[in-house]
Amino acid sequence: MKAHELARELGISPKELVNFLQQRRLTRNPAAPLGPAAVDAARSAFKPAAVAVKIEANGDRKVALPPSLTVKDLAEKLSVTPVDVIKKLMASKILATMNQVIDFGTAEIVADEFGYTVEPVSRDDVITVESAEGEEVVTTSRDELFSVSSEDPAKLVERPPIVTVLGHVDHGKTSILDAIRKTRVAAGEAGGITQRIGAYKVMTSEGKPVVFIDTPGHEAFTAMRARGAQVTDVVVLVVAADDGVKPQTVEAIHHARVANVPIIVAINKIDKEGANPERVHQELAAQGIVTRHYGGEYECVHLSAKTGQGLDDLLTTIVLSTEILELKANPDRKAAGTIVDAHLERGRGPVATVLVQAGTLRVGDDFVCGHIYGRVRALTDDLGRSVTAAPPATPVVVSGMSEVPEAGDIFQVVGSEKNARQIALTKLMEKRTHEAAKDFTPRITLEELARRAKEGEVKELSLVVKADAQGALEAVLSTLQKIEDPVVAIKIVGQGVGAVSDSDLLLAGVSNAIIVCFNLKPTPASEKAAERAKIEVRYYDVIYKLTEDVERAAKGLREPTYRQVREGKAEVVIPIKIPRLGMIAGSRVVEGKVSRGGWAKLFRGKELVFEGRINSLKHFKDDVREMQAGQECGIGLEGFEAVEPGDVMETYRLEREEI
Ligand code: GTP
Ligand code: MG
Repeated sequence: MKAHELARELGISPKELVNFLQQRRLTRNPAAPLGPAAVDAARSAFKPAAVAVKIEANGDRKVALPPSLTVKDLAEKLSVTPVDVIKKLMASKILATMNQVIDFGTAEIVADEFGYTVEPVSRDDVITVESAEGEEVVTTSRDELFSVSSEDPAKLVERPPIVTVLGHVDHGKTSILDAIRKTRVAAGEAGGITQRIGAYKVMTSEGKPVVFIDTPGHEAFTAMRARGAQVTDVVVLVVAADDGVKPQTVEAIHHARVANVPIIVAINKIDKEGANPERVHQELAAQGIVTRHYGGEYECVHLSAKTGQGLDDLLTTIVLSTEILELKANPDRKAAGTIVDAHLERGRGPVATVLVQAGTLRVGDDFVCGHIYGRVRALTDDLGRSVTAAPPATPVVVSGMSEVPEAGDIFQVVGSEKNARQIALTKLMEKRTHEAAKDFTPRITLEELARRAKEGEVKELSLVVKADAQGALEAVLSTLQKIEDPVVAIKIVGQGVGAVSDSDLLLAGVSNAIIVCFNLKPTPASEKAAERAKIEVRYYDVIYKLTEDVERAAKGLREPTYRQVREGKAEVVIPIKIPRLGMIAGSRVVEGKVSRGGWAKLFRGKELVFEGRINSLKHFKDDVREMQAGQECGIGLEGFEAVEPGDVMETYRLEREEI
């Protein structure tokens, strides 16, 4: 993609874009097409952040099609009637009914006839579902499954916003939620707030519901993102006023940006001695999050989970900034949602927190979740009360699962057990093929990154940095930040204290990063996990070795440059024909030396006739490595035989430029 095209797409001036890219060393030559890293960086930096308004792009008549769909669904996607589609199919001698399932190839031909450009829904996004009539199993995309645009508008009702709370460890995410829940819960139910199910619904003082997702670390969020699930309407970024912006704060900002979700800043612990909200605003601004407080566009609230100050303010801000999104859902369809948390519970078996996003989930419903299928045995809400139904935007704990699903798995209700089994089976097979295929996908290693860089795929080296202690981590980070490479940018996508965790591997996987560890020891379990995830994890106990390797890797990521080192000069005396070798130049070395594997420029008079490799060098009948001035030899040039007496060769070798 060219810079001016991207600038137009982003609605900024080409100059602004080029400045941005050059500052980050994402381009050297603004006239050349931009690499994918540059395009991504610019897109995430310049996308409107405060309010995410989804714009349906349909003017360009593009359509994403799943591997199979019904005639009716296709008609809807192409904005034509099913009869129009059936007619087109008939023209290609395919007789189909409205509810018939057709494959991608067939659908593509029809879409093409209607003037659409077709692209397949990406593999990760393909989801098997029941057809509308419940008779067949078809495929769709994740977006489509939760999209309300194909629903009957009369059936849509307002739904609460879904908020994910992110922030550095111990900055008070859970405390804020507990405090909100405490003030919003009737006395008799107060005991229920100790329930930790990962997602909660609370009521504002105006009686508006808001759904919060709170997960330790950012694991669930990363896991869900890695699997393409997007359940959040807005992110609340919690920063402790006495501690300021920390590594996981930065990571959270990164996550929210990549997911294109608006951010509301919550500066917590303002009751504490040493609280300095001003500093937090400044530090956030340094990360590109300019709050309203500073005249920027990011909403911000000062609060204390301890005293309760500002909690109402936070809720109001959430409600106000999500109202314009006009969030709606159809409660009157089969339920579909996403797993936000799941574990094995003693006496209860596998339990999973499902965030119902569409439809209403009821006890007794047949469901599929990943490759697991079953029937809902019981539903429990976030206060531990047993319920019989869960409408859209409600977190509920589902029991009755045969296995523990994974965060990010789609949970869907189906009309028949037969369909449930079939959908679960496709998922299981997909999982198996995926696992089998994984063995063939290249591991993310420094060499692999170097290869991709050569092909222009990456121009940055992404790292997840781990250390045994905070001080050590900061030391490593500050040394890494000092590495200046003119071409390859070093990007820290994640950092943390402690052994390499699954979420580190996930993060590395989605960001194409490798993991470097300082003062940590690999455990057999972590080595296996890394092996499975195909991520390279490097261990160091000396900082400079770590940074040296990274520095070298950055250099390796760059195209090597070579310089010519003059070796000598030879004069052609007579061309000699040698069986199997062809013509070689019988020559005399007049200066320096000539070596096999070296390079030569062949001049006739002043004119350069040929330049290429010396692929054979002979002294009488023997192959030799090099010949010195004064000696006679036969020189064979790769791909050139028309040598003439009197030609002069200047020989040189190529030496890798030290960088
Ligand atoms: P993780 O889930 O581990 O990432 O932490 P968290 O962000 O959920 O933090 P948590 O709510 O567990 O709070 C961490 C500590 O900060 C606890 O000891 C809280 O009591 C304390 N804390 C949280 N909010 C406030 C506040 O507003 N004022 C004061 N003084 N302490 C607070
Ligand atoms: Mg917590």
